[in-house]
Amino acid sequence: MKGIILAGGLGTRLYPLTHATNKHLLPVYNSPMIFYPIRTLVSAGIDEILIVTSGPHAGHFIRVLKNGKELGVRHLEYAYQEKPNGGIADALLIGEDFADNDSLTVILGDNTTDADISSQVAAFREGATVFLKKINNKEQIRRFGVAVFDKEHPDKINAIEEKPKIPKSEFAATGLYIYDKKVFDHIRSCRPSARGEIEITDVNNIYIRKKMLQWVELKGFWSDAGTFETLYRANVYWANKGGI
Ligand code: TTP
Repeated sequence: MKGIILAGGLGTRLYPLTHATNKHLLPVYNSPMIFYPIRTLVSAGIDEILIVTSGPHAGHFIRVLKNGKELGVRHLEYAYQEKPNGGIADALLIGEDFADNDSLTVILGDNTTDADISSQVAAFREGATVFLKKINNKEQIRRFGVAVFDKEHPDKINAIEEKPKIPKSEFAATGLYIYDKKVFDHIRSCRPSARGEIEITDVNNIYIRKKMLQWVELKGFWSDAGTFETLYRANVYWANKGGI
């Protein structure tokens, strides 16, 4: 199992902070944001990691992370996404050579969690695993992909709807996924959405249609840190916890 952290994008919702550096290097209490997803992967036993980045501050990463050894990463690679807002799946496609037919745990660079995903990583064989989180707030959940469960088999997901106006459940797809090597063919079969991005939700729906998607409820704290509100929330949580 290898790990990919997607740290491209432009971070426009955090302007003016992201005029100065890449979103994923902004502080979350005592560490740069990207330390958190690295920690999630390393704690799950994944020590070969690719960071996909983009935009004007891509060069800042190497100054902070160097070769990753201080964070327990045995092999750290960097890749550059040419279209900085091409979409999460567009960023993931760049990792095909790095993956070299292995399975992948993928995490968005602005996601922080204290969940332990090592059992799902160890048990993974094929298909895709998505980690869902219950979000009770209707306004908040509309920012995410939301699971649609089967009425007769409530454990079964029939689809994931991206940013729905009327969410059909309280379970949002977090930015944490495990994929088999087929993910790259599935990405190539997707067309850009109305907002011009290759959507990871479309990729997950392909796995659902093939009956190859499992889901797990993520235990513990989870938040993205890509808006002022969620960046603040993540800072408060990790400060109370004493950081990582
Ligand atoms: P978003 O928060 O959806 O996008 P963004 O980071 O560009 O921010 P904004 O909307 O404020 O401009 O992306 C979530 C994560 O996905 C982000 O942490 C980085 C990653 N990402 C990429 O790697 N490449 C991309 O093309 C996009 C859109 C996101």
